[in-house]
Amino acid sequence: MQTRSRYSRFIALLAIVSVLVVVLPSTKTYAAWPDPVRGKHAMVVSQHELASQVGVEILKKGGNAVDAAIGVGLALAVVYPEAGNIGGGGFMVIHDSKGRNHAIDYREMAPAAASRNVFVGPDGKLIHGEGSSTIGYRASGVPGTLAGFDLAFRKYGSGKVKWADLVAPARRLAANGYVLSYRLAQLFKSYSDGLSKYPESKRIFLNGGKFFEEGELFKQPDLAATLGRIERSGAREFYTGRTAQLIAADMKANNGLITLDDLKNYQAKEREPLVGDYRGFKIISMPPPSSGGIVMLEALNILEGYDVTAMQYNSAEKYHYLAEAMRRAFADRAEFMGDPDFADVPTASLISKSYAAKRRESIQKDRASNSKDVGHGEPTGRESMDTTNYAVVDKDGMMVVNTYTINDLYGSQVTAKGTGILLNDEMDDFAAKPGEPNMFGLIQGERNAVKGGKRPLSSMTPTIVLRPDGSVWFGVGARGGPRIISAVLQTVINVIDHKMDIQAAIDAPRIHHQWLPDAIMTEPVGFSPDTTALLKRYGHTLSTGWVASATGLMIDKKGVRLGAIDSRSDGLAVGY
Ligand code: GLY
Repeated sequence: MQTRSRYSRFIALLAIVSVLVVVLPSTKTYAAWPDPVRGKHAMVVSQHELASQVGVEILKKGGNAVDAAIGVGLALAVVYPEAGNIGGGGFMVIHDSKGRNHAIDYREMAPAAASRNVFVGPDGKLIHGEGSSTIGYRASGVPGTLAGFDLAFRKYGSGKVKWADLVAPARRLAANGYVLSYRLAQLFKSYSDGLSKYPESKRIFLNGGKFFEEGELFKQPDLAATLGRIERSGAREFYTGRTAQLIAADMKANNGLITLDDLKNYQAKEREPLVGDYRGFKIISMPPPSSGGIVMLEALNILEGYDVTAMQYNSAEKYHYLAEAMRRAFADRAEFMGDPDFADVPTASLISKSYAAKRRESIQKDRASNSKDVGHGEPTGRESMDTTNYAVVDKDGMMVVNTYTINDLYGSQVTAKGTGILLNDEMDDFAAKPGEPNMFGLIQGERNAVKGGKRPLSSMTPTIVLRPDGSVWFGVGARGGPRIISAVLQTVINVIDHKMDIQAAIDAPRIHHQWLPDAIMTEPVGFSPDTTALLKRYGHTLSTGWVASATGLMIDKKGVRLGAIDSRSDGLAVGY
């Protein structure tokens, strides 16, 4: 009887729900995508749940968004070893609770001994394998992550939590271990060719060659000891203490370039944040040595001349104009961008509305341009997929978007002996041989040639968007080499032009065009054959690939914090 009455109640409820579903329209414009995660006070988004939880704990202890971002970054170095790091570098964009914007550049620097032709062999050809810009000891720039975190902590931290409180959670994760996911266990295996070339990497990440399995506890005692020293002695320990000595000694023993002096001389820098606007909304992003902010703003300025909303988010017409804007902005990237401390970068002109209007003149409706006729720079250089973005917003509305990287998955594949630190292969973001194809068949510009003390050009695009009244609205960044710029650009357009919430804006299908190769990359899912046929009819060549993965935050009009992790990747948004 009880079962029958339960069954009847269930049928009645189902009928009511069906009627409601039919009668009441969804409150969401893009109901197919999940809702963002909601938090009343604060939100942390990162590509690993343990790291996001570290951020939330720091906020709950009274830390601000900068404090939490540092804790998250250090935790990712342990739980997300393919990209999270203290052996690499990156960029942090901050909108503080007083409404000021800040940009911290902690990009790696080329060691002093690095010169223009350091990756060119006696035969005049690019070096491959050990000694190249992509693998082994010579591939690493001097890491900037700890110097950047230290600068951010001193200038913009709350002052309510200690440095040691930010490092301790990461040190504990390294010492006590964490359960390996299927994804990470598989990823170690799939990178075993590179990692097994270096004894410390093989011992730590490949279990000495026996491999780890999903569900095993993964401990990193060397990294825990390194983090312990940094916890006790501060970030400078990495640059002048035992850690620096260990890195320099391992470099020396293996024909690497980084010396104790290089480590001692590394400097994180504050840069003037790049500020542009798109349809009345302020866009705050990273200036050079990242190309990300300029390329995105130039493309946005070009697109401002069109009614993007009317074109709808997934029409061939919209993708055509988007690709043409990106083609032109990436052409300028190749020609004009490099480390501003070494090369003149005409930033103000490139992001001006008048320059965009000139660039727009050559765009035709329904007809693809040819990249050979557009721009006059050198083609862009290869950049890898292995970067990670995370973001924090606190109870006072301070927002931090941080993108950092060791370049390739597991960087140079080298773990510096005795430190547990995976080192970057960021030297490959320089033009390894300007004016000539590099080992991947691509060419990079002279402004981005290798030089001691110089920072390689990046595509990282940590970005914060303000409403016309100046209040902070949303933040977004991505991983994925040059595709980062396309992902951030399209997230901005999806929110502003297509009125999507942050999750839908990040999940929606996207394209990528980087001038050369002259092709629009469309994603494997979300593009109808009709759309691609139209793009081909306009004269575009198409390729297929995933266009980066993003993480983002938004504050809605009621002050609720919304968090979004890209469906293309893993991670967790944690709010409270
Ligand atoms: N290593 C990728 C980037 O900095 O853009």
